[in-house]
Formats: sequence, C-alpha cells, structure tokens
Amino acid sequence: MFKKLSVILLLIAISSGSRLYADSHSAAIASAHPLATAAGFEVLAKGGNVYDAAVAVSAALAVLEPNGSGLGGGGYWLLHRQKDGFETMIDGREKAPLAAHKDMFLDKDRHVIAKLSIDGALAAAIPGLPAALVHIAEHYGQLPLAETLAPAIRYAKTGFAISERYLKLLTARAEVLNTYPDSAAIFLTKGQPPELYSILRQADLAQTLERLAESGRDGFYSGVTADKLVSSVQQAGGIWTKEDLAAYQVIEREPIKGVFHGIKITSSSPSSSGGIVLIEALNILSGYDLEDSDELTRKHLITEALRRAYHDRSLYLGDADFINIPVNRLLNEDYAAGLRSSLRIDKAMPSELLSGEIKPQPEGANTTHFSIIDEQGNRVAATLSVNMSFGSAFVAKGTGVLLNDEMDDFVSLPGAMNGYGLIGGSANAIQPGKRMLSSMTPTFLEDENRVAVLGTPGGSRIISMVLLGLLDFAKGNGPESWVQVPRFHHQFMPDVIEYEQSALSDAEINGLAAIGHQLKPVPNIYGDMQAVQLTKATKVLSAASDKRGEGRAIVGHY
Ligand code: DON
Repeated sequence: MFKKLSVILLLIAISSGSRLYADSHSAAIASAHPLATAAGFEVLAKGGNVYDAAVAVSAALAVLEPNGSGLGGGGYWLLHRQKDGFETMIDGREKAPLAAHKDMFLDKDRHVIAKLSIDGALAAAIPGLPAALVHIAEHYGQLPLAETLAPAIRYAKTGFAISERYLKLLTARAEVLNTYPDSAAIFLTKGQPPELYSILRQADLAQTLERLAESGRDGFYSGVTADKLVSSVQQAGGIWTKEDLAAYQVIEREPIKGVFHGIKITSSSPSSSGGIVLIEALNILSGYDLEDSDELTRKHLITEALRRAYHDRSLYLGDADFINIPVNRLLNEDYAAGLRSSLRIDKAMPSELLSGEIKPQPEGANTTHFSIIDEQGNRVAATLSVNMSFGSAFVAKGTGVLLNDEMDDFVSLPGAMNGYGLIGGSANAIQPGKRMLSSMTPTFLEDENRVAVLGTPGGSRIISMVLLGLLDFAKGNGPESWVQVPRFHHQFMPDVIEYEQSALSDAEINGLAAIGHQLKPVPNIYGDMQAVQLTKATKVLSAASDKRGEGRAIVGHY
C-alpha cells in the first residue's frame, strides 16, 4: 500500500513539461520508452543515484524495446561524477566467440554469405550488457540489483502494451523471427505479429533477470542461464562455449575528449569509433566559420569533414585491445589542418580519391540511447544495442534472451559493405575474443553555461546525428531543438549524402549536386535522439525525446 502511494506521489511531483528549476533531488531522464524513463525515476525515489537509475533504465529497455537492446546485446555507458569530475566509459560491447575466425562468413570462393552475420545464432557475439549492469551497480550504484532490476522484472512479468512503432519494427522482422520457434513463441501469435496494444509478457526473461538480480554476474555467465544459452546456440549452429561466457569482462576505458569552439566534448572511445570520428570531423570543421557560411556551403563542409573522418574510421579503427590505433594523430589539430588542405569549398571530393587502400565491394533499426542528469551534474549517457532490429532474431530456449547480431559490425571481407554500408579492413577483422567496431556515440557536452548529455541509435549514421546535435548546441539551442534537427549524413562510402526531406531545400539539393555530390533522400525514421541539459547558473533542467520515436523525456523532483 505504502509503495503504491509513493509511486503516485512521485508521478505528481514529476513536471509534465520538459523544463524545471532544480532543487535537491531533481533529475532529467530521456529514454526511448516512457516506462523506461519511469523506471529511472522509480529507482531515484528509492534512494538510488544516477548510476542506479542507468541500470534500471537499461534493464527496462531490455524488456520494453527488444528490437533495440537487451541482455543478449551490449553497449557503452559514459559516466560523470560531479564531486571530483571523474569520468569513465564502461565498455560492455559484445566479443567474438573464441571459435570465431576471420573468414567465418565467407563461402569457399571467398564471397560473403548473405545474412549469415545477421540472422541466427552464428551472428551472435558474447553479450556484454548483463556484465555491465552488474559492474555499474557494484562500482558506482548505491542500491542492490534486486532494487534496480525490479521495474524491468515487473514489466517482463506483467507485460506492457505494444505500440505502433514496435509493431512496425516487429512486422519487418517477423519472417526471420518465425524461423526460430523460441522467438516465435514470444514475439508472434501463430506466426503473425500480434494485435496493436496487445500485452507482451516475457516470463522466461523475467526469470533470467531474477537470476541476474540474485547472483550478479554468475546469474548470467555461469549456471542455469549460461547452460541454456550455450546449448541453445550450439544446437542452432552457433559456436558459443561456456568458456566464452565465463571469460567475458567489461572494461573501463578513458573516454575520448576534445574541444570545439570552447565546448568540452566527452565521448565514446574504441571499441567504438564514435568519439574519434566525431572529434576528428569537428577538428576539420573548426577551421571554418560555419555560422557565417551560407547553408549550402555549411552542409558541403560538414559533408566533406564527415567523409574524411569516416574514411579514417575504415582504415584505422577497431578494438584497441587487438590493434594499435593512432589516436593522437587522428585527433591532432595539425592533422585536421592537413585534411582541410584537400577540401575545396566549390567542389565535392569523390571518396575514391581518398586513399585507395580499401576498395568497396558490391553490396550483400535498431539500438537505443538514454540520457540522465541530476541537479548536481552527475550524469550518464548510454547507447545500447543488439545491432539490427530484434538482433539475430534468435532467442535462446528457456531464457527469453534475444541474441544480438553484432558479428555483422566486423569486416567479413575487406571492402565488403556491412548492414550499414560501412566498409573496413584488417583493423576490424574478426578475431577470437575481439570487440567489433561500433559507431555508438554517447556524449557529454559542456560550455561555460550548460552541461548536456546526448546520443541516438542509427547504426553508421549515429556519429553524424550527434555531430549535427552538437552544432545546434553550439548555436545556443536546447535539447528540444537538437533532437529535431533535420538530418543529413555522409560516411565516405557509399559516396552519397543521405538526407531527410526537411534537411535540404531544393536549392541546396541542386547546389550540392552541381558541385559534384550524389544525394539520396531517406525516410524520416532517422535516429531516436534522447537528450538532457542542466543550465549551470539557473539550475534549470531540460530534456527532450526525438519525435521520430516514442520516447519520453521527463524532468522531475523525486
Ligand atoms: O554498434 C554499432 O555501431 C551498431 N551495432 C549500432 C546499430 C544501431 O544503431 C541500429 N540502429 N538503428
């Protein structure tokens, strides 16, 4: 009874708007699902800190948004502690199984076998999300996992109504889900997508979460859950062993840092390419006066900066535990000046004129982000993923855990495009125990007046979306504006500017084409940015969720 009452009081205390003058015990949370945002506030109200809230939101999203992230996946959590300025990145990225090898997705003629790295058990790498939740709870949280996982367990047991957006994503993946009986039993009704607003209950997943809450790491990476995961994967042609699960470790890494026009940037480090590509592109742009440029020139310059930074991604970036990454060079301002010297204001540079080392081969959504900040400035930016929508579409029997298809983020063959059209070479080749290169870009921004947290799903487009959000922050706009910025993107290869209809006027489309750019419109489903901000002097908290998704941003007292 008392518990129910406190939940009602909490909801009253939460401001329905997206701005609030903070007093003690105030926070802003933006996530991709209203119930995940509520889970964060529920845990804050129980006496948790922002890191406990991050565990709760991550676990809730694993239940509510199985298309985007989950216990069978991984991600990156960027943490900032205000009292001493400590910052770290929890690398909970999946790792290739020990039996993986660089040619595992090629046929005997060395052609990529379509879909083998995308659908089914062989596409799945060893999950990192459960280990990361345990690590964050143990090292940074104040509450036991039994408390922080409670909302997720409740959502899994009692269920939640499925939305239009979920149904659309599910329908797109239904055929593949239907080829795996354990996936079909959970997500489909007689082989078909269920009705809109019907209730999705995930009893096995609730039990798996309970084992994690009770036994921590051992509740997932050994014992009953591990036995079920390994036998199910092996029966379906996968290569996981118990040794793989037992060996999985999260790693705390130094985030990547940079400065752009006085804005301090903290972002993801390898095994994600996010921070390096973001800051390298910004370093190139810092040589121009973007604000005084006309819109066409501004968009051309951003495109050319992205082209060069994504080109370096394809050449140099991968898991820093396996390869040497020239981070200092890539982030050096003189290096950026060198890249600027090849950039013409009046002409696009064809990508093939950049280093020809990796030639593209002919071709063969989903993830999630949340942002949390409290009134003191403690903050979390987390981007989590199972890679493609509903990951590999394979649920391990009796666990409710939908496995990722993150193996597709490796380079199966130098120059062959992955599911996001990205190409790469040996730096991101498959090796046993290696983390595949990510584009996830959870990011903190700070200038004299404000602190911000932002990020988004969107595969290879994540980095350019965060860059456009950051440039909007630089103009002085707030979160409601960053999440709605019309988006365009270039990633070196394919050599094309992808754009939302509203991002380019007809005159800009014609102007960009006239100086040599190729252009391709894409539907308005580009990302799902979640952002929060604290204004330092006034202590105003604000938050916003991308209108392209169904997320909820709340600022509230707890
Ligand atoms: O780590 C990565 O870069 C990808 N696996 C992220 C996938 C993603 O964002 C899908 N979103 N729509």
